[in-house]
Amino acid sequence: MKKFLDLGLQPLANSYIKKRNLQLKEKKFKLTIGFNPKNYLVSILNTVPKEKMFNNNYPYKSSESKTMQKSFRDLSHKIKKSFNPKFILEIGSNDGAFIKNFNRNHIVGVEPCKNLASITKKINYKTYAEYWSLNLAKKITKKKKADLIYSANTLSHIKNFNGIFKGITGALSEKGILILEDPSLLECLKKVAYDQFYCEHIYVFSTIALKKVLDKFKLEIFDIENTKTHGGSNRYFIKRQSNKYYKVKNKVKKEIIKELNFGLNKFSTYKNFALKVKKSKEKLVNIFKESKNKNFKIIGYGATAKSCTVLNYCGIGREYIDYFYDTTSFKINKYLPGSKIKIKKYKKLKKSEAQLVFLGAWNFREEIFKKEKLFIKKGGKFITHVPYPKVI
Ligand code: TYD
Repeated sequence: MKKFLDLGLQPLANSYIKKRNLQLKEKKFKLTIGFNPKNYLVSILNTVPKEKMFNNNYPYKSSESKTMQKSFRDLSHKIKKSFNPKFILEIGSNDGAFIKNFNRNHIVGVEPCKNLASITKKINYKTYAEYWSLNLAKKITKKKKADLIYSANTLSHIKNFNGIFKGITGALSEKGILILEDPSLLECLKKVAYDQFYCEHIYVFSTIALKKVLDKFKLEIFDIENTKTHGGSNRYFIKRQSNKYYKVKNKVKKEIIKELNFGLNKFSTYKNFALKVKKSKEKLVNIFKESKNKNFKIIGYGATAKSCTVLNYCGIGREYIDYFYDTTSFKINKYLPGSKIKIKKYKKLKKSEAQLVFLGAWNFREEIFKKEKLFIKKGGKFITHVPYPKVI
C-alpha cells in the first residue's frame, strides 16, 4: 500500500455525541489513504474494529431518503423483469428499503446492526442480525441456494474479502446473479469528494480493482450501471465465470477504458488528487472565513458521516456553523463527532434564519434543492465543497 492522502486525526464518523457526554474525550484515529499498485485497491490504512461501528446504535437508515427509496424501487422492478429470482438474499439490509419491494416469502436480509434488523423483523421479513460469513451463508442456504444476492454500500465497509466472497459463492446458485453497488472511485476523484473516506469506508472501489478481486473467486462483471446515489456509484452485475447464460456487455469494457484513461491504475493520479484535496481545504476555509467576516449566519444541512471528515480535516467548527439540520431521528439533539456542532430537528429553511447553508448531504443536492425552493428563490445560498468549494 502506498500512502497518498492524510486526512488527519478523525473521530468515528457515525458516533454522534449525547449532550451529557460532550465533555468526554473522543477516541480518534489516523485517517490515511493508500493505493495498492498491484491490485489497484484504494483503502484507508488504519481500520477500526467492525464492532465499534456496526452495533446496536447505527444511525443511518436508507428508508429516510426518497432518493434511496426510489433507487431501490427502480432496481427491484428491473430485477423482477430481467432475472425473475425465486430466492433473494440481501447482505446489509439496513432498515429494509430494498427488501420491502419483494414478497417476504422470497427474500431474506442480513443486517448485523441490531437496531436496524429489528425493524425488518417487526414487519415479518426474515432477517439475520449477524455479520455475513461463510457459516451464515451455509445456514441460510442449506435447503435452497440464492438466485440473486444484492449488497449495496456494504462491501466497501468490510475489510476482509475472503470470508465475504467465500460466503457469496457458497450461497449463490450456479446461474445466480450477484449485484454489488458502492461509491465509484472515479466519481470520487473527479469530484474531489475526499469525504468518501471515513472510518467505515474501508475501500472506495474502481471497476479495475473489483475485477481483480472477483477473479480470485471465479466471478466476473457482465454489466455495469453508473448511478447517482451516494455522490456517484457503480452497480455491478456479476456472475460465475462458468455461467455462459449472460454475455459480458460492452459497457464493462468501456468503463474499464474510462478508468484507465483517467489513470486509476497509476499512483501519480492519486498524488495529484491529494494536491487537489489540499487546495479544496484552503478554499473552503476561506469561504467560511469571508462569510463570517460579512456576519452571515451559517448553518449545516445533513449531518452526514461525510461532513465529519470535511469539518475535522478543515478544522471548521462551531465558530462558523451554528448548528446542523437533519431529518434522522437518531441524530437529533446530538452533536457531530469532533466539531461538536449541535444537530437540530429539520425545519424548512428560511432566509431570515440563515443566509448560508453548508451542504453536508451534497449527495442529495437535487432532492434538497427541490425541497428548499423557497429559500433559494428568496436569495438563500448554499456552500458546497463538491466538485470544488463555492457558494451556490
Ligand atoms: P448519507 O447520505 O448517508 O451520508 P453519509 O453516508 O456520509 O452519512 O446521509 C444523509 C444525511 O442527510 C442523513 O442523516 C439524512 C440527512 N438528510 C436531511 O436531513 N434532509 C434531506 O432532505 C436529505 C435528503 C438528507
